[in-house]
Amino acid sequence: MRITGTGHASLRIDTPAGSILCDPWVNPAYFASWFPFPDNSLLDWEALGDCDYLYVSHLHRDHFDAEHLKRFVSKKATVLLPDFPTSEMRDELEALGFTRFLETKTEQVHELDGGLKIMIQALTSPTDGPIGDSSLWVEYDGIRILNQNDARPTDLTTFHALGHVHAHLLQFSGAIWYPMVYELPEAAKRAFGKQKRDRQFDRTFRYIDDLKASNVIPIAGPPCFLDDELWQFNDIFGDEGNIFPDQWVFQQEYAKVGGTNSTVLLPGSVMELTADSAATTHPTDVEEFFAHKREHLEEMRERKRPMIDAAKATWRHPEIDVLKEMKRRIEPLLDESVYLAKGVGGPVRFDLVGYDGESVESIVVDFPGKQVRTYADEKVRYRFRTERALIEHLLFIEEVDWVNSLFLSCRFKATRIGQYNEFVYAFFKCLSEERLQYAEGWYAEQKPDAEDVKLGDWIVQRRCPHLKADLTRFGIVDGNTLTCQLHGWKFDLPSGRCLTSVGHELRSRPAGTPPPAPAGSDSSGTTPAVAAVATPGAIITAEVGATETGATDVGSTAAGGAGSGDAGAGFAGSSASGAAGAPPGSATVSE
Ligand code: FES
Repeated sequence: MRITGTGHASLRIDTPAGSILCDPWVNPAYFASWFPFPDNSLLDWEALGDCDYLYVSHLHRDHFDAEHLKRFVSKKATVLLPDFPTSEMRDELEALGFTRFLETKTEQVHELDGGLKIMIQALTSPTDGPIGDSSLWVEYDGIRILNQNDARPTDLTTFHALGHVHAHLLQFSGAIWYPMVYELPEAAKRAFGKQKRDRQFDRTFRYIDDLKASNVIPIAGPPCFLDDELWQFNDIFGDEGNIFPDQWVFQQEYAKVGGTNSTVLLPGSVMELTADSAATTHPTDVEEFFAHKREHLEEMRERKRPMIDAAKATWRHPEIDVLKEMKRRIEPLLDESVYLAKGVGGPVRFDLVGYDGESVESIVVDFPGKQVRTYADEKVRYRFRTERALIEHLLFIEEVDWVNSLFLSCRFKATRIGQYNEFVYAFFKCLSEERLQYAEGWYAEQKPDAEDVKLGDWIVQRRCPHLKADLTRFGIVDGNTLTCQLHGWKFDLPSGRCLTSVGHELRSRPAGTPPPAPAGSDSSGTTPAVAAVATPGAIITAEVGATETGATDVGSTAAGGAGSGDAGAGFAGSSASGAAGAPPGSATVSE
């Protein structure tokens, strides 16, 4: 089996039974903020796009590049379609000219012609990507690979059960706006960024340890930022709080925890994979390439500048009355929203900076009041400040997912009061009837988990209230705080309160105390089974586990970060409260 690196999360898999092109991304994404790095635009995409199968893991624009798919990928290719709850991906691909689809069933192995086998695991919570993310498992002639890209399954047992994996490709870097866009003291921002950076690595190491593949290939990031306004987000300034470490940095961090089996693929690198070997050739010396990262970025910045300027020229739509259009688009959805509106629980303010760079129009999406209106000098839960032109453009193109456009662009500033609120981002990625209904239904079906386990001196529910990670594997108890290390969410054990996000209460009690009496006759009175006995040391190895988020102590107009584009997550809690530079006496929040 051959794996060709084609940049970011993109790769091509070649076998005698056919080729699979995965997530080809070349054009800038999210308001021309993100570019693939290293640059992959000079690869022979005519040849790479002449493939038998196309796999697009999800609809985030650094994975689903419509312009590139339309121009370079053979329409004879059969699309391996993840089992997502909405038909958006198929609809978009059909609009681009694709006609052949294999609608896979999640976690089901499909046998293709010539002995090629594939399985796609679809993740479908409203916080997984743009309502859906996925991983691709491939087997040919006893050689197996897992392209996990940026998906965050709770564990990898489904893949592990299919036999030893020879190459595990997964994300290790940030793909989010937290904490950079938050209005925080620089020292606090750096501290939260560092915390997040460390957690990203820890989470990656955990997945690697779970699967124990022969080879590890870090992919799916980081992007690079070539617009002068965003240049500071590139990890070239020696900032330990930068959340976008590159593949070479990963390799070094991985070596520190004993990892010796990782290979960095540049665009154009080719790995020949067998059951007991992985021979890789590169288009240039990899270490040398990353040693000159800044020069490569500067060269790209000059070369891509016209592209960014051309994109910017399309954003302004002065004919659009933003307040009126937001009312028309958002109010019907607010009316229908039960769980998301309740979850947000307060007004969210948008400060739109006019073309002159000074005038500001403040608009409030009032979730309790179910209306969009002019800001009325009230306290708000979240405040976003961005260019008016960006919102005009979102309204002009009828964008249904403001996470997969505005928020991932990092072209905004944010503040907030209180904890990270996943519902804010879930709502703004569901600005269509289809998506909103799905998300509402998903939250409506969430039921408390009945099984309890013993962790340290506490009895807690086995499944994390966030996205149901098994806490016997991901939970760590430190004093009165439980941390689920899948995304780093924290819970106060005496109260069960989630310290990371609103809602999401954990069932917990000290070991040795009886469970509370059932509240009502429906509760049957059965005592949840205690299924596992574990101590923190037995469950979690030190330094392992992570999330996409960080923790923030902020003042009365608090700030925080946001959950994700690649599966939003939250994190907060006592461990963050001592972050350098954080104002005293403030609430602990995070995302
Ligand atoms: S599943 Fe996300 S923090 Fe536990």
